[in-house]
Amino acid sequence: MKLIDGKMISGMIKDEVKEQVEKLKQQGKEVTLAVILVGNDPASSVYVGNKKKACEYTGIRSESYELPEDTTQEKLLALVEELNGRDDVNGILVQLPLPAHIDEKTVIDTISPDKDVDCFHPQSVGRMCIGEKGFLPCTPAGIIELLKRSDVEITGKHCVIIGRSNIVGKPMAMLMLRENATVTICHSKTKDLKEVCKSADILIVAIGKPKMIDSSYVKEGAVVIDVGIHRLEGKKLCGDVDFEDVKEVAGAITPVPGGVGPMTIAMLMKNCVSGVR
Ligand code: GUN
Repeated sequence: MKLIDGKMISGMIKDEVKEQVEKLKQQGKEVTLAVILVGNDPASSVYVGNKKKACEYTGIRSESYELPEDTTQEKLLALVEELNGRDDVNGILVQLPLPAHIDEKTVIDTISPDKDVDCFHPQSVGRMCIGEKGFLPCTPAGIIELLKRSDVEITGKHCVIIGRSNIVGKPMAMLMLRENATVTICHSKTKDLKEVCKSADILIVAIGKPKMIDSSYVKEGAVVIDVGIHRLEGKKLCGDVDFEDVKEVAGAITPVPGGVGPMTIAMLMKNCVSGVR
């Protein structure tokens, strides 16, 4: 079994971004990411803190907007519009989830597709689906990098994705298709989930249930990518995959933590640089 080291690979990508940021600085171009957080969801605060740290590491300037929970939608939209109009801002990220009184879709639709480093805007998603140039969705693009930099062949392989979210499952399917995989998307209504998973050469798990996938779902030698992250009682982190059990049959596997998680932020940094014109 080979361990796919997301911490190491994300470090390589951040170092590459750092070099690009330096080069752009020599041309008089500064890279700036605006990060907006509404309210004080503890998990969101941690994610936003990690994004700011990655900006510091890579030399990207980050502008942080931490707004109170009762911020009106109008006020948030006005801030997004203002950032859309600023030539010195290359990327805009609104941390999700937003408080219930704010309509997420309206906010996402307001972000300029040219600054949509999360690749959540319908126009960004459309461009990605038809293979046009543009931002790539961070977590799925990070998984492609993990596979490529771990020398996992994708062409012609059967890739099974569990989960059909707009952030992971659906864009993941599109990117794997672009890499010439044969793709199956499974979800909560899928019949014979275990049998489908057992036919996967590459199994990507984004269900949101701690340790749901054990070795009985995995073909001998398959590559297993775990997108889940959960905090168990006693504070230990785990994924959607039962790592200790699955590592006995998998050919390669990502750990949690240190697998997919750090890749998402590294790819966000990459998008920030690619947004500079
Ligand atoms: N909430 C959970 N994941 C993400 C992400 O990748 N981007 C944003 N903006 N919010 C999130």
